[in-house]
Amino acid sequence: MEKNYSHNPVLLKETIDFLGLAPGQIIVDATIGGAGHSFEILKKITPGGMLVGIDSDEETLRLASERLRPFEGSFKLINKNFRYLREILKSIGVEKSHGIIFDLGISSIQMESWQRGFSIKNDGPLDMRMDRSQSITAKDLVNGLSERELSEILRDLGEERFHKRIARGIIEARRKKEISTTSELTEVILGSLPYINNKYKIHPATRSFQAIRIKVNDELGSVSEALAQLPEIIEKSGRACVISFHSLEDRIAKNTFKEFKASGVFNILTKKPVIAGEDELAVNPRSRSAKLRAVERL
Ligand SMILES: C[S@@+](CC[C@H](N)C(=O)[O-])C[C@H]1O[C@@H](n2cnc3c(N)ncnc32)[C@H](O)[C@@H]1O
Repeated sequence: MEKNYSHNPVLLKETIDFLGLAPGQIIVDATIGGAGHSFEILKKITPGGMLVGIDSDEETLRLASERLRPFEGSFKLINKNFRYLREILKSIGVEKSHGIIFDLGISSIQMESWQRGFSIKNDGPLDMRMDRSQSITAKDLVNGLSERELSEILRDLGEERFHKRIARGIIEARRKKEISTTSELTEVILGSLPYINNKYKIHPATRSFQAIRIKVNDELGSVSEALAQLPEIIEKSGRACVISFHSLEDRIAKNTFKEFKASGVFNILTKKPVIAGEDELAVNPRSRSAKLRAVERL
């Protein structure tokens, strides 16, 4: 992975404002990535504060720790899936935090690294694991699942309308030869579509790649489990922010927050999700599909 990465934190100012930061607070960045959000958070909570940075990707944590060097002593980095949130905090003696941020999905650092196999544009091994100690890869799923399972994943996690055709195409292709690279998978997907025209706003394989990545990393399961733990780990008046990049994640945040409000544990700060303004859209293409929701502990 490159050292000089270019990760632009999405909805940075909005997130920082919602977190209501002050020196001395304990804040959790559940998806520290390139530490873009964390860097700004640390500026506001030091002196005296502590940032707990979590990421399931070990390599990413090395970059984060380099970036945060000016704040040495004021942060702790933990290489784990955020679905173990309560356990993670307990292991470092933190009972409650003032705020938490989830900036979901993968970072541009991961996306741009061909070795990780997330990208349609850069050919690489069909991997897609955020946590490289995990044994199941995209290659295992693409070559091992049944046609029906593949079709359901593409439909439910990618909202891909041609899910049946693509699943069929994968089965036929792998009968001849194992599908083992991102370009091979892209070729199979493109070859399965009934037509490719200029109506596609995104690459025609994007939805399938998203579906497989979400499945490999059980992204929806992790988000649901982690959000359910918020009432226990956020102190009174503390805040939680969730930035999501597709409707499936956003729905989980929206519904969980609604339940929190109904049971009187959190107040919703964002009636509608906050989206990027023109200025950000112009410089950060990743912000295009970002939606931020925030809540406050009662
Ligand atoms: C969009 S990036 C975060 C970028 C970060 N906010 C920044 O400003 O640089 C998401 C990060 O979260 C990590 N991640 C995604 N799901 C995770 C999970 N369930 N547990 C822990 N880390 C996760 C990814 O590995 C990735 O590094």
